[in-house]
Amino acid sequence: MKEEEQLQLIEKDALSKVNEAKNQNDLNDLRSFYTGKKSPLSDILKMMANLAIEQKKIIGKKANEVKTRIEESINARRKELEEAAINYRLQNERIDVSLPGKTFKVGTMHPLTRTIEEVEEIFMGMGYSIADGPEVEIDKFNFEMLNVPKGHPARDMQDSFYITENYLMRTQTSPVQVRTLLKKKGEPVKILAPGKVYRRDDDDATHSHQFMQFEGLVVDKNITMSDLKGTLELFVKKMFGSSLKIRFKPSYFPFTEPSVEVDVSCFKCGGSGCPICKHSGWIELLGAGMVHPNVLREAGYDPEVYQGFAFGIGIERATMMRHGIDDIRNFYLNDQRFLNQFKGEN
Ligand code: DAH
Repeated sequence: MKEEEQLQLIEKDALSKVNEAKNQNDLNDLRSFYTGKKSPLSDILKMMANLAIEQKKIIGKKANEVKTRIEESINARRKELEEAAINYRLQNERIDVSLPGKTFKVGTMHPLTRTIEEVEEIFMGMGYSIADGPEVEIDKFNFEMLNVPKGHPARDMQDSFYITENYLMRTQTSPVQVRTLLKKKGEPVKILAPGKVYRRDDDDATHSHQFMQFEGLVVDKNITMSDLKGTLELFVKKMFGSSLKIRFKPSYFPFTEPSVEVDVSCFKCGGSGCPICKHSGWIELLGAGMVHPNVLREAGYDPEVYQGFAFGIGIERATMMRHGIDDIRNFYLNDQRFLNQFKGEN
């Protein structure tokens, strides 16, 4: 019978093509070619209109069976191809767990940043807020309003980098005092201002043309020198050790009166004398004093009503003291052998 032979041929042809299919696209093409509307199978079904009813039944059934088998073979081949693809990837994309991994170097907080964070923490615990100011400062804030007019001999202590006659790289964080007082317009002030400062110094083991300071300023009614002493005592004990003592020595800063230099008893020998404290038992740590009436007045505060204290601490110096670092240049060389020593601290 003609139709039956045709069906057999179609099936044979289809199954062998399906077996040769290389990928899913081939299979999609074969499906529409052999089972779609314009397929040889549907041609046969169309021709059946001319057949006798008995024939129609037989051929119709066979045609459906052929269609089902073609579809089944396509599905089976699809699965086969999928599995092959997965196996290929498993073989070729296998991760070799025996290869050494890439190591990433984890950085560490810079020792100066660490000191800044700790000191901020201590002073915030005493109710201070953190303030800052620009590193390029106007002469008026860096000097004049701090009681250092143009031509004042105290300017010689802080030779600077000038940008223009009126702009300079700030030589100290003290101008943040002026900026804060002007902003607070007669209100009480309690700030700590860490930041970078610049001086025209030749770099050596204890000098750097760029370094950092903390500025502290408290202005309120009834502030006395004993507030200053109590504050610094607490700070030193928290920062360097509870057994340490401080002492005040008379000094001079143009923006404080009286001015003091503050020494800390040697953290290494406890005061008996050793090479670190140059056998004096004391280490010089910071400058401080009672805010000069001229500074208050210039910034709009009545010195008869308000008093204040201020202090300035060298951040590098404090960090060197704590860790026994003997050369300030270490902080700025980016030598990992130096920096790695502070890994894991705190
Ligand atoms: N600004 C001073 C300096 O750089 C340090 C200083 C001393 C700051 C006494 C102060 C202070 O606030 O009261 O040498």
